[in-house]
Amino acid sequence: MINHVGTREIKTERLFLRRFTENDLDDYFVWTGSAEISRFIMEKPYSNKEEAKKTLLKIIESYQSMDYYMWGIVFENELIGFCCGNEINEDIDCICIGYGIKKQYWNRGITTEAVKALIDYFFTAGFNRIFAYHNPLNPASGKVMLKSGMTFEGRIRGGSKLAGKICDCLQYSILKEDWLKNKECSSNKVSHQ
Ligand SMILES: CC(C)(COP(=O)(O)OP(=O)(O)OC[C@H]1O[C@@H](n2cnc3c(N)ncnc32)[C@H](O)[C@@H]1OP(=O)(O)O)[C@@H](O)C(=O)NCCC(=O)NCCS
Repeated sequence: MINHVGTREIKTERLFLRRFTENDLDDYFVWTGSAEISRFIMEKPYSNKEEAKKTLLKIIESYQSMDYYMWGIVFENELIGFCCGNEINEDIDCICIGYGIKKQYWNRGITTEAVKALIDYFFTAGFNRIFAYHNPLNPASGKVMLKSGMTFEGRIRGGSKLAGKICDCLQYSILKEDWLKNKECSSNKVSHQ
């Protein structure tokens, strides 16, 4: 049974995950306005800040719902991206994770660190299954899923629509029982050192 807690602050070794505010527009537009970054997360990039602002204001309004999960990722005091949980299925206590960050921060393990924190957050809140999927042309995202402890489930044909095109997606998941097992293994390792 899920105990919805909404978007609360999360701290990790290097990151601070927090709610977006109106002051974040310039940073938010860096990824939502960039074709290269947005092509795997949006229909099309925003062409101006006004468009981005409408979505940002909707996000901020949505924080009133306790089942709304959307964080800005702050690294070294800069807002560099987002991570979120959506597509909730209450019948099976299931949620989907999504993410994206500014290009100059790619390949430093930042998204994996954020996703691991979300996995802890959602299982602690009572979810039983967390999944994520990516376009086959975006292998770095699959790497994030694997490094976060997820297992490859398969290719979902025609399962997504990105950049205006229906496309296949590669899907991964982690169950609460996997997460508990991993935690047990790492605490055993620590106690045997
Ligand atoms: C996908 C994305 C979020 C990854 O973020 P990140 O912070 O760079 O991720 P990490 O550094 O934690 O891990 C990336 C891994 O992918 C690997 N990688 C990068 N490019 C790759 C490629 N073309 N093929 C295979 N692996 C690749 C990196 O080497 C790294 O693995 P490693 O740690 O074993 O070396 C980032 O590229 C991004 O924001 N892309 C645009 C938005 C997007 O695609 N969002 C996901 C939609 S499903």
